[in-house]
Amino acid sequence: MVSLLDKSVRMKVNFMESKTGQTALLDLEPSKEIFLEEVLEGLRNQSKSLPCKYFYDERGSKLFDRICELDEYYVTRTELRIMKDHVSDMANHIGEGVRLVEYGSGSSLKTRILLSHLKDPVAYVPVDISRDYLEEVGEDLAEAYPNIEILPVCADFTESFDLPEPTREPTHTAVYFPGSTIGNFTPTQARNILGGIAPLCGDQGGLVIGVDLQKDPEVLEAAYDDSEGVTAEFNLNLIRRIKHELDGSIEAEDFQHHARYNEAEGRIEISLRSLRDQTVTIGGESFEFEEGEMIHTEYSHKYTIEGFEEMAGEAGLSLHGAWTDPRKYFAVLHFVVPN
Ligand code: TRP
Repeated sequence: MVSLLDKSVRMKVNFMESKTGQTALLDLEPSKEIFLEEVLEGLRNQSKSLPCKYFYDERGSKLFDRICELDEYYVTRTELRIMKDHVSDMANHIGEGVRLVEYGSGSSLKTRILLSHLKDPVAYVPVDISRDYLEEVGEDLAEAYPNIEILPVCADFTESFDLPEPTREPTHTAVYFPGSTIGNFTPTQARNILGGIAPLCGDQGGLVIGVDLQKDPEVLEAAYDDSEGVTAEFNLNLIRRIKHELDGSIEAEDFQHHARYNEAEGRIEISLRSLRDQTVTIGGESFEFEEGEMIHTEYSHKYTIEGFEEMAGEAGLSLHGAWTDPRKYFAVLHFVVPN
């Protein structure tokens, strides 16, 4: 039974039509065919890889939530601490009457902390490829923030997309990109994503972004290869999805999680290592693996504040505020588009 309250909450969560007139939601969600095509593409390469965006199905998202609670995984906890300690200052930097666009679904506590402290925010626009998740989170946020228009967009933020227009005109637009997700892209891809922010936001545009900082390799490697094996299970979930959703003849038991810090590149390199010589078939295509061969699944780049500032500068953004924790493990940075 749907109660009246449910209905009124539901009504506030408008999956708005994009400027081009089509409903962003239905058309942009990656389908199974795209999943298959991207998997095949990655495995056809000389050095094999799998696309990391497919980590996050329902099980993957739950495993990731568990990663965030691990002792070794300092990332989430540290960013949350920085948000709690500095949110008033951040809100001042962002300014009044903002349309806040989040790259990600907005399920995190960090989002709520920010939304609770912004000055008269006009709208909140979570952008995510998972429609179900967006809908759920959107409804929760609409209930918690009745004065902020919640306008979810189902899209891939690495591609261009249109922003929904709130009923009330915002003074400016800012992107919130927490979680150091930017580190999961190569510097070239990261520069492209950052380069899309100024045109998306327009005049007075801004960006608040979480960036994981370079540190002791031992601390980094433990964060991506925890003693309970939760991260291993998260990585192997990709194999399980290929088996179940794409009907692949591939077994998680035949691969092993692998994470190493490459100091020269400033990145954690995450892979799946084949435990034996094997041939697997996916979508009618066969792939051979040698024992010890690696499938690259994800990078997690670690930056210095100066290095990140330089990269963002190349994308037309200038540093306007920086907050960090006492150990300098993580930074939350505010950039603006110079006039
Ligand atoms: N954005 C997270 C990070 O780079 C994602 C992540 C954490 C991750 N642990 C992982 C991705 C393990 C793949 C495997 O910190």
